[in-house]
Amino acid sequence: MEAWEKAKNGRVGKFRPVFYISLDGMEDESYNDGEAIIKESIKEGIIETFLKGMSLLKLLEREKEIISNELQDIVDEYQSKPENLIPILQRVQDKLGYLPLPAMEKIAQALHIPAVDVFGPATFYNQFRLNPPGEHQIKVCMGTACYMAGGSIAMESFERRLDIKEGETTLDRKYSLERVACVGCCAMAPVVVVDDKVERSVTPTRVDGIMLSFEVNGRKKEKGQGEEQLEEPERDRKEEPQKKEGEHNS
Ligand code: FES
Repeated sequence: MEAWEKAKNGRVGKFRPVFYISLDGMEDESYNDGEAIIKESIKEGIIETFLKGMSLLKLLEREKEIISNELQDIVDEYQSKPENLIPILQRVQDKLGYLPLPAMEKIAQALHIPAVDVFGPATFYNQFRLNPPGEHQIKVCMGTACYMAGGSIAMESFERRLDIKEGETTLDRKYSLERVACVGCCAMAPVVVVDDKVERSVTPTRVDGIMLSFEVNGRKKEKGQGEEQLEEPERDRKEEPQKKEGEHNS
């Protein structure tokens, strides 16, 4: 029961009565034990649901609307057949950008299968996201060259700065952090892709620099909107003499 002891020390969901447990770091054998215990507990009703890496973020209104209004149509398109679960999950992820727990529960209900049978493939295949993509997406390369050059140090630095773990999204949905396989720039290792821009030789200092530039740009953006309003009359004044000159020439 060592696995159960570890599981009991897991995290508890903030927004739903969900027992959320991270099994990261467990040895394979303990993990299997833990998973079996958890499945049994779900069956017995001790735990409502369990999902490794599940998002604890509150649903946005738009997401709630899609789940209540459009999800059933998607399932109907696939004739409510459990064997069509993967394409259904793909379609739902296309709509929402990820697979939130309520969406998976609703899919399970619509297909008349236990929720845990939906969680299985959703957590097994890399193509599925359990957390929403952030406004800024940070992808740390963990290919061999990057890993050897310090990719995990870059990952830890981002985790510390953002106060999230790999695969998660910040509560304000501003940043999401994920690991990716080789992005084809091994000579620049360790590499991090920040919003499609490749950052080379990323050290903890560079991580601080990247985060600082986000903060500075965010402040500039806010300030820029204010300045634009103030500068508008001045710009109009500058354009006026040019018009007059044109009128005179014609
Ligand atoms: S291993 Fe990171 S770019 Fe190739």
